[in-house]
Amino acid sequence: MSLLDDIEKLQAKALSELEQADSPDAVEQWRIRYIGSKGAVREMMQRLKEVPREQKPAAGKAANALKNTLEDAYKRRMSAAPTPRRVSQRPKVDATLPGRRRPVGHTHILTQTIEEITDIFGRMGFEMVHGREVEDERHNFDGLNIPAWHPARDPWENFYIDGRGDLMLRSQTSTVQIRTMESREPPVRIIAPGRVYRPDTVDATHSFMFYQVEGLYVDEGVSMADLKTCLDQFCKAYLGPEVATRFRPSFFPFTEPSAEVDILFEYDDGSTEWIELGGSGMVDPAVLEFVGYDCEKYTGFAFGLGIERMAMRKHNIPDIRLLFEGDVRFLHQF
Ligand code: FA5
Repeated sequence: MSLLDDIEKLQAKALSELEQADSPDAVEQWRIRYIGSKGAVREMMQRLKEVPREQKPAAGKAANALKNTLEDAYKRRMSAAPTPRRVSQRPKVDATLPGRRRPVGHTHILTQTIEEITDIFGRMGFEMVHGREVEDERHNFDGLNIPAWHPARDPWENFYIDGRGDLMLRSQTSTVQIRTMESREPPVRIIAPGRVYRPDTVDATHSFMFYQVEGLYVDEGVSMADLKTCLDQFCKAYLGPEVATRFRPSFFPFTEPSAEVDILFEYDDGSTEWIELGGSGMVDPAVLEFVGYDCEKYTGFAFGLGIERMAMRKHNIPDIRLLFEGDVRFLHQF
């Protein structure tokens, strides 16, 4: 049999075996067997010496072609074959190392403040209820004895919703007084924390969106003394027993008489200042009538306090904007 025949057979056999090699190991064995330094191709090259002179050029060409074909087939196979996985000798888990702690967040300082406030009022027997942030004029104004001509209803003083009739973002949590009294009979003793919206110019103590907590207590024989005691006790529970409170005569269309609630704030240098926390008063009989309560039988008090202002006083926060910027360096402190 001539060398040329052998070359042809070897090539056919090698290519078919390569096709069947089904693992990286089998391909490597094939490489050693055929194109390795002691492989079949090399053997074939050595046999060229024995070929008669006149056949040498053709045999040499065929042997070279065989070498190139098998090397190319090997390269193609390697580039297509999946990369063999490296098997690490090391154990994957070192159970002796301490675990990695995931950073755990916490509730926002305003959420903490709301929880603290509702907890204190809860202990005084107030039930927490929630109102709506999108309200209508009936609950934001009419029910609260704020007539159509009142400047508080001015579009420039409120966020009305374009094209949605009288719908608006509520400007005060007092709306929840009306919604609650419309849906149940006295006695009523609720607090309602939540967001309110006003187009106020933003500065260190004002935001266009802020939180209030509304309080309402309606029953037979509720008096101004109850209101003062309730808020004084609340301020002492929240800010400390040494805190002094003051009730400053004021006006709200839905309470009569009305009063602003101030607390005496003492700065680190010993100086003091009265800070307004919110509004309060005895529920106006017109409001009780609006919701169908018997205003000869029932009286009540109501209040609405600014939650940011309370948190700012308690934690010495100089600027309300810090509470809404979401800077974790600030928030992590609480
Ligand atoms: C009211 O909103 C009345 N609804 C309160 C009330 C309720 C009176 C029940 C009587 C009976 P006033 O507009 O004063 O009142 O707001 C109450 C408190 O909200 C303020 O004292 C202040 O602490 C806070 N507040 C008002 N405007 C802003 C603002 N732009 N940014 C942050 N806090 C504000």
